[in-house]
Amino acid sequence: MNYRGPFRVRIDEKPYPKILHPEDAIVRVTRSCICGSDLHLYHGLVPDTRVGSTFGHEFIGIVEEVGSQVTEIQVGDHVLVPFNIACGKCAFCKQELYGNCHESNPEATAVGGIFGYSHTAGGYDGGQAEYVRVPYANVGPTRIPPEMDPDDAVLLADVVPTAYQAAEMGGIKKGDTVVIFGAGPIGIMTAKCAWLFGAGRVIVIDHLEYRLEFVKNYAQCEAYNFRSMEDPVLFIKKTTDWFGADVCIDAVGGDAAGNAMQTITGRKLLLQAGSATALHWAINSVKKGGIVSIVGVYGPTDNLIPIGNVVNKGITIRANQASVKRVLPKLIDHVMAGRLNPKGIITHRLPLEEVSDAYRMFSSKLDNCIKPVLIPPKAKI
Ligand SMILES: NC(=O)c1ccc[n+]([C@@H]2O[C@H](COP(=O)([O-])OP(=O)(O)OC[C@H]3O[C@@H](n4cnc5c(N)ncnc54)[C@H](O)[C@@H]3O)[C@@H](O)[C@H]2O)c1
Ligand SMILES: [Zn+2]
Ligand SMILES: [Zn+2]
Repeated sequence: MNYRGPFRVRIDEKPYPKILHPEDAIVRVTRSCICGSDLHLYHGLVPDTRVGSTFGHEFIGIVEEVGSQVTEIQVGDHVLVPFNIACGKCAFCKQELYGNCHESNPEATAVGGIFGYSHTAGGYDGGQAEYVRVPYANVGPTRIPPEMDPDDAVLLADVVPTAYQAAEMGGIKKGDTVVIFGAGPIGIMTAKCAWLFGAGRVIVIDHLEYRLEFVKNYAQCEAYNFRSMEDPVLFIKKTTDWFGADVCIDAVGGDAAGNAMQTITGRKLLLQAGSATALHWAINSVKKGGIVSIVGVYGPTDNLIPIGNVVNKGITIRANQASVKRVLPKLIDHVMAGRLNPKGIITHRLPLEEVSDAYRMFSSKLDNCIKPVLIPPKAKI
């Protein structure tokens, strides 16, 4: 997959990746997904996204080659590779903040390295490819249990850990009302995870009917269309005895629709780093003293958020990139025990050669697409 500029991606031949460091591995990709985060790149919203780069931070594959200092995985292993590139040794990795590694990204004031996510996140090529170089191969890649379906495994590289961490950062307590903005793969899986934390009521807000229908069935929650409400904040207040939700989760990020001013300044004129509509709604519809958890991605510069209300309401806001490695053992258990069924959100399987169509479909939400998976020609499973 080769990025050519906003809204343009295509398939090209690129050189086979090389081991550049003794802790590198080369992985032959067997599955990769397109994530909502890739859409921010595709829409040209992420700074320093260079033409010629390869996206893809959700992938699994077979280890083809390892550097001389790789001890934790072997050639032939089928591994799932967390989207964060983490050294495992720095002050942040030691606190299990693998998404905030201080070594894997030269721009590491905020985020650590991420596969296929622009030079803002380290400039690594990603997994929407046949082969990919995996740095710090002793840290991230995790052997897939032989009895696990590869379709479940690929969703453990990002979607499930992100959703789980979104629910966890929301500090959900037994009986809480949890409102999730966004019914994309992340919002859908977050709804599922909210129940695991003991939520009493789970409400999902979006404007795409097919996704609202999907999440109602998949996560057995309430789901409402913000286009059919006068004001989503008022709606949530009304349905919670005018208290507001205990926990609000932003699973939308900078591509949010629903407010003309935000859309024009954030998505059209790029005067702020993405449209903060869902974040506005989250802050304004959580109860006083409540918790807002943000996993929706925004650009690194300022947004026009209602920060004054954050202070006046005494809200706790928690946000981060998911720390995949930290939550993985628990999530593998949940999947193996049948409490989570990640592959249930996969709606489309396409050959990698059709990556350009796949992006168009996922970006424009065509053909009732929830989650597309790309299969490289050399994937033998
Ligand atoms: N923090 C992390 O570790 C992490 C990891 C993965 C994805 N993400 C981010 O999570 C977000 C969701 O990812 P996804 O794959 O589900 O993307 P997606 O684009 O498929 O889904 C986003 C959904 O939000 C809906 N939406 C738009 N405006 C809305 C609004 N104002 N209120 C409610 N819903 C609205 C859209 O209709 C869409 O269904 C993205 O911002 C992505 O970058 C973060
Ligand atoms: Zn992602
Ligand atoms: Zn580190």
